[in-house]
Amino acid sequence: MIYNRGMKKIFRPCCLLTAALLAVVLGNAQEKTIKQVPAKPTVSIDGKSLFAQYCAVCHGANAKGGGPAASALKATPTDLTQMAIKNGGKFPEERVFKMLKGEETVAAHGSANMPIWGPVFGKSASLTMEQTRVHAMLQYLGDLQAK
Ligand code: HEC
Repeated sequence: MIYNRGMKKIFRPCCLLTAALLAVVLGNAQEKTIKQVPAKPTVSIDGKSLFAQYCAVCHGANAKGGGPAASALKATPTDLTQMAIKNGGKFPEERVFKMLKGEETVAAHGSANMPIWGPVFGKSASLTMEQTRVHAMLQYLGDLQAK
């Protein structure tokens, strides 16, 4: 499984702090293999806290890359504030939406380091909750785009 290959790379350096952080962030998606920290079920629908909880460990608190786990990864977590600039001035909402829903993975384009988010965002308790959270995340990332 693509996801597991990624995790092995992350954990090879055996940094406890990183492991704990990742366990918190990814615990939900990886219940089977990571048990150190119980995943806190989140009911947050705030894009900023969703980002802090699920993405900041790799992409950094400000989304510019360089989160605490970044150095343990083979691929550099993308500076997510530059997505619009790299896409001709328009935030690639559709692509990010598909990534969050698990319909499109970065892995499909050759990387095993970006987790697959379908299990986290695609199977929330209710459809309404799922849509709200995905929308909140897209809104947050869209607002973050450098001009
Ligand atoms: C385990 C580390 C990790 C976590 C956690 C993580 N990412 Fe990533 N992400 C990456 C890496 C590494 C890449 C770059 C992959 C590549 O270049 O092949 C990436 C790439 C991306 C891209 C592609 C950007 C582009 O322009 O192609 C988007 C969008 C993205 N991440 C969004 C997110 C969001 C939103 C979250 C939280 C829900 C998140 N990531 C959580 C590691 C992570």
